[in-house]
Amino acid sequence: MKKLFVVLMLIAFATSATFAVAADSVSYDNKQGKVTFNHKAHGEKLKCDACHQGKPAKIEVNKDAAHGAVCKDCHKAKGGPTKCGDCHKK
Ligand code: HEC
Ligand code: HEC
Ligand code: HEC
Repeated sequence: MKKLFVVLMLIAFATSATFAVAADSVSYDNKQGKVTFNHKAHGEKLKCDACHQGKPAKIEVNKDAAHGAVCKDCHKAKGGPTKCGDCHKK
């Protein structure tokens, strides 16, 4: 049992290492106030495919996307921040 656990951990480590290209945190600085996206925390709470289809790759983040499908729609559905000041920090 213990051996199986070690093997599973090694597999998990090996697969996560192949995706180690994404930054832990990305921030978007703009006139409304800086938005910090904690990619690592989101990835731990949610499955990668909650946001990425297929092999995870760059997602375009701009105002319309952020206020809709890429960020806010999910916050509305799953209880993340939806108020301006919850995302934009001066
Ligand atoms: C809550 C949504 C969300 C989740 C969950 C998520 N990601 Fe991402 N990911 C993004 C967004 C948004 C970007 C684009 C960030 C940017 O550069 O502006 C991104 C970018 C990436 C990139 C491209 C990095 C680059 O700059 O080229 C990779 C690779 C990636 N994610 C992998 C993953 C993996 C692996 C997981 C699961 C552990 C994951 N993501 C979970 C939203 C998410
Ligand atoms: C698939 C669902 C989903 C997507 C897409 C998503 N989030 Fe979230 N986010 C959540 C949830 C759920 C929480 C609340 C987590 C908690 O309170 O434990 C959260 C919390 C946050 C928080 C506050 C907590 C923290 O991590 O600092 C910020 C800021 C945030 N999200 C920014 C963003 C931004 C910016 C994007 C788009 C680039 C985004 N999120 C996309 C689900 C999502
Ligand atoms: C879920 C997080 C989130 C919430 C809630 C949110 N925003 Fe944003 N907003 C973003 C992100 C991410 C961007 C993209 C920033 C970038 O591209 O630099 C953005 C972009 C913007 C921009 C464009 C800034 C520029 O310089 O181009 C404005 C203005 C803005 N938001 C205002 C608001 C207002 C007003 C509210 C409340 C009604 C709001 N936002 C709520 C995340 C959020």
